[in-house]
Amino acid sequence: PIVGVIVVAAGSGTRLGAARPKAFAPLAGRTILEHSLDSVFGMQRESQVVVVVPSALVDEAASMVTDAAGAAHKYVRVVAGGATRQQSVALGLAELDASVRIVLVHDAARALTPSSVFDAVVTGVAQTASGIVPGVAVTDTIKRVDDDESVVETVDRAELRAVQTPQAFPRAALDAAYAEAEREHTDDAALFAAAGNTVSIIDGDDRAFKITTPWDLRRAEGLLRDTAA
Ligand code: C5P
Repeated sequence: PIVGVIVVAAGSGTRLGAARPKAFAPLAGRTILEHSLDSVFGMQRESQVVVVVPSALVDEAASMVTDAAGAAHKYVRVVAGGATRQQSVALGLAELDASVRIVLVHDAARALTPSSVFDAVVTGVAQTASGIVPGVAVTDTIKRVDDDESVVETVDRAELRAVQTPQAFPRAALDAAYAEAEREHTDDAALFAAAGNTVSIIDGDDRAFKITTPWDLRRAEGLLRDTAA
C-alpha cells in the first residue's frame, strides 16, 4: 500500500487508573484498541497498519487484529513499543513496507475518531506534501503562568488549535525528521516541524478526543450508547 498507519498503543495509561494498559482497558465491552482499529479499517484507502503495543501484550493484540481485520485487512503487523511515545512511533516506522509514501500516526487512545478524518489527512498530504494535522478551536480561555501560578498573560485563543491524531506526513520527510530528532516532542507534528518541514491544520472532530482520565472513558461510553440507541 501507499498509505501506512501507525497506531501507538504502548502507553501505560496510569491516569486512567485501569488495571491494564490503557489501550487494553474495556470500553463498551471491547478494548479501547479494538474501537480504534475499527476506525482505521473503515478507511476508504487501502493501508498497511502497524499496531505498537506493550511487549507483554503483542500476542493478545495480534489475536485482536485477526478478529477485527478478517480477510480484507492483510497488511497488519503488531510490534512492541518503547519507553516513550516517540520511541514507540519510531519502532512502528521501522516496520513500514517500502511501498508506503504517506504515513499516519494515530493514538489508540483517540478511540472514537471517525474514519473520515483518516481519509481527510491522507488527501491533505497527497495535495500539499506538507504535514497535515486535525485540530479544533480552543473553547477555554488560556493563561500563561509563572512558577508561582501567577498569571503572566492571557493568550489569544483565536490563534490556538488543540491538535488531535491521526497526523499525516510524507514518509521520506518523516523518516528523516525522526532520524535527526534530538529531544522528545509531544506530537509528531512538532518533531516534523523541528526538522524544518511545514505543517497545516485541517478541521478535526470532537469525537477524536483522547481518552486519558476515567471521566473521558465515561464520555466515550456515553457516546457509544447514544450511537447504538
Ligand atoms: O500518554 P499519552 O496519552 O500522551 O499517549 C498517547 C498515545 O501514545 C497512547 O495511545 C499511548 O498508548 C501511546 N504511547 C505509546 N508508547 C509510550 C507512551 C504512549 O505507544 N511509551
